Amino acid sequence: MLRWLFRRHAPAQPPTRAALVAAEDARQAVEGSRFSRGERPLICWNVDFSQDAALAREAISRTIAALGEQFDYALCTRGIDARRARSILELAGYPVEWRRLREEETLPRLRPGAPELILPAGVAIETAPPWLETWAQGGLPPCQSPQNTVAALPSQATTMQIPVRSFAPGELDGLQTLRGVPNRAVPGPLQRFAWLGGSGQWGVPGWSLPDALAEIVVTRAAGFAGRTVLELGTSRGRLSAMMASLGCRVITVDHQDRGARGNLAGLAVDVVQDDLVRYLQRETRRFDLIVCDLHGNAPSDWRRYRKPLLEALARGGTLILNNAALHRLPDWDSETGVAWFLSRLPRRWTVELHTQTLPGIAIVTSR
Ligand SMILES: C[S@@+](CC[C@H](N)C(=O)[O-])C[C@H]1O[C@@H](n2cnc3c(N)ncnc32)[C@H](O)[C@@H]1O
Repeated sequence: MLRWLFRRHAPAQPPTRAALVAAEDARQAVEGSRFSRGERPLICWNVDFSQDAALAREAISRTIAALGEQFDYALCTRGIDARRARSILELAGYPVEWRRLREEETLPRLRPGAPELILPAGVAIETAPPWLETWAQGGLPPCQSPQNTVAALPSQATTMQIPVRSFAPGELDGLQTLRGVPNRAVPGPLQRFAWLGGSGQWGVPGWSLPDALAEIVVTRAAGFAGRTVLELGTSRGRLSAMMASLGCRVITVDHQDRGARGNLAGLAVDVVQDDLVRYLQRETRRFDLIVCDLHGNAPSDWRRYRKPLLEALARGGTLILNNAALHRLPDWDSETGVAWFLSRLPRRWTVELHTQTLPGIAIVTSR
């Protein structure tokens, strides 16, 4: 009775930070691409099927290595399938937005609220030239490629239909048209799919699994090659792509569409858009490996996930849970849901914790 009274009159819990972020995320999803509403200056390569993919790959990787996080990056393609786009982006080492255009489509404004610089396939910027700062502040830069194909958009322009300007020799300092590419080692899954990361203006900062933890997931997932594995929390498809590249058949579930279906086309990945609990309640298969990589890790969230998740795991199966120690990060102290879940596992199940890098992961093996 007393407990009932206490519950009835207990003050309502304020929403956790993750719940507020998720509500904002859902609100923004209704308005369209989150990436397009970013405000960081954007460098975009415009590549079609007739152009050399290796030069485009080299230009993108060199530019991002030189300029890093000051800018965001995109690849617009015509007549290029997802497999080729992934190969162009495999050395980027940083999130890149991929937009596939129709043959006749003019280059759209990808980020209307920020300056955009459009580069042709094999053009790189290897050291920041003086005009770059002016451009990034929203002014038209004095630049154009020798082929009249470089254009820069100030933030207020709405389409690519701006006249191409003429420029005096020397004004193009810093833009380099590549002639050839060095031989490079075949990149591993972490590097190959870094372009699918969801940090910065693609999503909530820092919410893509850090490489040190992604490496552990990849190593474990390799043991499930040839089997169907389930990922909960797709985002843009980074972990799904890594696991598929190891030979896993992946089913990945997310309640938001962040472009994964296009990014992963042609890989052995089935992209499902649904709430994970609703999906698990429908699903009759049992999985040997389930990877949970979710925004929403308060105990109230995990009370919802617990039963359907345990039921979906095959006997002797493995659960990899991201965010096992998220609550140790400043501002995320209410995200103790994974710890809550781990403390209620059936007896004799084993838990391996990796918390040296936050937000940490837990690897659970069932009996
Ligand atoms: C950390 S991101 C996943 C990152 C992704 N695994 C990767 O490799 O880039 C978390 C994702 O979980 C999704 N999510 C959160 N709650 C969910 C729910 N109840 N059902 C389905 N997806 C959910 C979010 O929309 C978000 O895209």
